[in-house]
Amino acid sequence: MATQCSVVVLISGSGSNLQSLIDASQHSDAPFKIAAVISNRPNVKGLSRASAAGITSQCVDHTEYASREAFEADLAALIDQYQPDCVVLAGFMRILTASFVSRYERRMFNIHPSLLPKYPGLNTHQRAIDAGDQLAGATVHFVSAELDAGPPAIQGQIAIEPNDTVDSLSKRVLKIEHKIYPKVIEWFSRGRLVWQDDAALLDGTPLGAQGKIVAWEDISTL
Ligand code: GRF
Repeated sequence: MATQCSVVVLISGSGSNLQSLIDASQHSDAPFKIAAVISNRPNVKGLSRASAAGITSQCVDHTEYASREAFEADLAALIDQYQPDCVVLAGFMRILTASFVSRYERRMFNIHPSLLPKYPGLNTHQRAIDAGDQLAGATVHFVSAELDAGPPAIQGQIAIEPNDTVDSLSKRVLKIEHKIYPKVIEWFSRGRLVWQDDAALLDGTPLGAQGKIVAWEDISTL
């Protein structure tokens, strides 16, 4: 890997996770740099965040393609122009084919707002509240072909309060997301985090089925 890990970030919307990665990449000792930001939707806030940071950004609008495969072919061609060491899905709301995923095998990450393997897919916070769960949170995982799956690297957890709504819970979980995603990309960039056999390994030690579990109270010690 190059001295600084080169990262391409894929987004679909607001890009608050992208912002946390941009901020982390701007530290003087940051082990990664964001080579480009690509959105599948035009005119989203994440694209403005990229421009404001002086990062190349482009849109590959999936609605202009007749098939998922045709969209992904152009997306992959664009990503590959930057020869990234790592591809980061940050609120990228398109399901990816197995063939696209295998192209970036073991070097593509996703963040999902639930305690995976619970609640892959949409409406995660509503589902956690409806189920009467005591904990919610977010998971960063290597991407495998199955939706919201692949070895987890980290999971940030927070208590669900009795009067929590989707809105209040998602705001707190987003704060966790903004801490844990840059940390994982840092680990990967320094060669500390790898996907070997069926597990994510941090400093040679296999992480469990939920990745490294970090409670809200301990997030600042990350
Ligand atoms: C986050 O909750 C992320 O976990 C999910 O989509 C949301 C994206 O938010 N995959 P943002 O665009 O990073 O603000």
